[in-house]
Amino acid sequence: MAGTFEHEATSVLKSNGKVFDLAAVAKEPVPPVVASDGSIVENEREIVLGRNVHTTCLSITEPEVDDESTGDKEAFMAGVLARYRKTLIERTKHHLGYPYNLDFDYGALAQLQHFSINNLGDPFIESNYGVHSRQFEVGVLDWLACLWEIEKDEYWGYITNCGTEGNLHGILVGREVFPDGILYASQESHYSVFKAARMYRMECVKIRTLVTGEIDCADFKAKLLPNKDKPAIINVNMGTTVKGAVDDLDLVIQTLEECGFSHDRFYIHCDGALFGLMMPFVKCAPKVSFKKPIGSVSVSGHKFVGCPMPCGVQLTRIKHINALSKNVEYLASRDATIMGSRNGHAPIFLWYTLNRKGYKGFQKEVQKCLRNAHYLKDRFREEGISAMLNELSSTVVFERPLDEEFVRRWQLACERNMAHVIVMPNVTI
Ligand SMILES: Cc1ncc(COP(=O)(O)O)c(C=O)c1O
Repeated sequence: MAGTFEHEATSVLKSNGKVFDLAAVAKEPVPPVVASDGSIVENEREIVLGRNVHTTCLSITEPEVDDESTGDKEAFMAGVLARYRKTLIERTKHHLGYPYNLDFDYGALAQLQHFSINNLGDPFIESNYGVHSRQFEVGVLDWLACLWEIEKDEYWGYITNCGTEGNLHGILVGREVFPDGILYASQESHYSVFKAARMYRMECVKIRTLVTGEIDCADFKAKLLPNKDKPAIINVNMGTTVKGAVDDLDLVIQTLEECGFSHDRFYIHCDGALFGLMMPFVKCAPKVSFKKPIGSVSVSGHKFVGCPMPCGVQLTRIKHINALSKNVEYLASRDATIMGSRNGHAPIFLWYTLNRKGYKGFQKEVQKCLRNAHYLKDRFREEGISAMLNELSSTVVFERPLDEEFVRRWQLACERNMAHVIVMPNVTI
């Protein structure tokens, strides 16, 4: 989607004691590193890593013989857990950098924590393990199928462990449909897309991005034309990780068509991990719909929706999944997922939220996030801090704070000279 960065004079500032040009930083392509054999390898920028957890880890202590009678061990563990709970409360209050909605109340589901709920196998075919939640899972999938405009008997999908698993699955389906296909992805795509290419040993072509972070279709065209003999598998971003940019799906399709790719020569996976469940509720946002020639869509469930454990959803066309799946006698179900055992609690949390909030509830929350993101961008600028915000996005990009302690306190995600705040429903003014 053609987003606009609001590059006003304020995007070049003297702050933090230095001249900082956020627009220029955002525009800078990540410089490629050329290996001795001439191939392009990942850039080895110096990256600030977090603290080593070994210095603070909680070691396992073997029980003493009389622990059960004295209750010492129980008391020790209760103390550890109480302190940990306090940390969680404090860390939850000071979180701005990752797209997790931390505002939820799932008290009604506490009664289910005593069960080992596992949806191993295909969501649509029961396995012999009876402690499952497929009835909730398929309910959630049907709701999303309706949102993304595909008939119940034409889709297949499942609740994944996270957005990454959705990407791994979507790209795998693409590769199964086109075993000799080339994977195209913008250079600002999430690292899981490039991980998929490495895992599946696929040829992968990186496409440049515009200053907004969205895929540059002129470069896409230039890279498609010399490869017209091979099918194309394309990752389209519904919200990039750092800038929240939305790729223009219609322009991607148009570019493919202009380069001579008929609909049976390409497969599009839409990575909606970040913004896929916000876009349908944004007025004027481009539509992700299976009425368009796309192959799959994936989203994360712990982001905007606010599931308290990592999860996601992957949906594809049923016609694609048959080649990928196998009946497994041991399960009495079908194996078409990336993982074996699958979290059976996550579908219930998603089902609960979708029931409580519904379309209207999500729409209200999205509007609040976008309003607050604009407010934050304006406040940054008023304070002389360069900031930018993509149209349709709640990711406010600003200059990376020099104080690493500040970055840690607010749990900011940083890349090069940029940091961002992702305004989720729990981020208030
Ligand atoms: C665009 C995009 N795709 C995929 C992912 C991976 O999602 P997850 O963290 O749920 O694995 C992210 C995570 O932030 C993302 O921003």
